[in-house]
Amino acid sequence: MKKVSVIGAGQVGATAVYYIAESNFAEIVLVDVVEGLAAAKATDFLHSAQLRSYNPDITGTSDYSLIKNSDVVVITAGIPRRPGMDRMDLLKTNVAIVRGVSKEIARYAPNAVVIVVTNPLDVIAMAVLRETGFALKKVIGMAGVLDETRFRYFVAEKLGIWPGDVMAMVLGGHGNEMVPLKSHTSIGGMPLPDLMPDDEIEKIIDRTRNGGGEIVKYLKEGSAFYAPGASVAKMVEAVIKDEKRLISASAYLRGEYGYDSIFLGVPIIIGKNGVEKIVEIYLDENEKAALDKSADAVKKGVEELNTVF
Ligand code: APR
Repeated sequence: MKKVSVIGAGQVGATAVYYIAESNFAEIVLVDVVEGLAAAKATDFLHSAQLRSYNPDITGTSDYSLIKNSDVVVITAGIPRRPGMDRMDLLKTNVAIVRGVSKEIARYAPNAVVIVVTNPLDVIAMAVLRETGFALKKVIGMAGVLDETRFRYFVAEKLGIWPGDVMAMVLGGHGNEMVPLKSHTSIGGMPLPDLMPDDEIEKIIDRTRNGGGEIVKYLKEGSAFYAPGASVAKMVEAVIKDEKRLISASAYLRGEYGYDSIFLGVPIIIGKNGVEKIVEIYLDENEKAALDKSADAVKKGVEELNTVF
């Protein structure tokens, strides 16, 4: 049985475990720094295993040695946003947390693919890459899958159709400058601009950019976790089963799309080695300009990272 470890047993971590457990493809270890928290949640999951027919191989712990030889490690440890906060406001606190976590991953699971969820995502992924010293393809940020599922839902809601029939792509950093691509959005093969007026599309793009913020405003304490948890599960499954799926995710770029040495959301093929391939698609002038703006926001975050790490 393949092994998946999830670091951080809070809202996103525990929800990811729930979805992964329901899909029955791996042994799971859940880790949290708060003594007893991961154990409590793992035990609670085990009690529901027979009701939901999943493999009761879930361990909750504060002991990092139990992540030994994991095939995939998901990092959700860190603090979430509060109303009025930008994801970048989390940078210093979360960098310190993920550096500690990354050391443990490098020590106990040196061959793992690491999926980073902690925000600000694209900058935190860089901190994880630096601290673990892992190969570039082994560290991936979870963002595009989440931003796309929001975009697809908003389009489907407007058209009164099932979200699964909407195909979409959202590139760029996981922040307010993300780039939902209307030219790559289609419904059953029909381009979105043929089905919806431009001003409606723009409203949906705007809502997608603020999709996480909308939930933060409602919650007041904390940020979204069901859709992030489900997005993590999809990526973990793709790696564990070596599915070679085409998804959008934050990957370390070395010249692709004209950017170097930053993590940015791009289409990738994901499989057992992590980023199997970065796929370069054609972007028109406006899309490229929007991606440049998004990359600039990530670069600013990396400059801030450089002052602390
Ligand atoms: N090791 C393990 N767990 C840790 C550590 C650490 N060093 N530091 C903090 N944690 C744990 C906390 O104890 C908490 O249980 O991380 C968990 C975070 O859970 P929540 O506070 O519920 O936050 P959550 O909503 O899950 O978001 C986590 O994901 O989407 C991002 O922006 C979000 O950065 C945030 C992260």
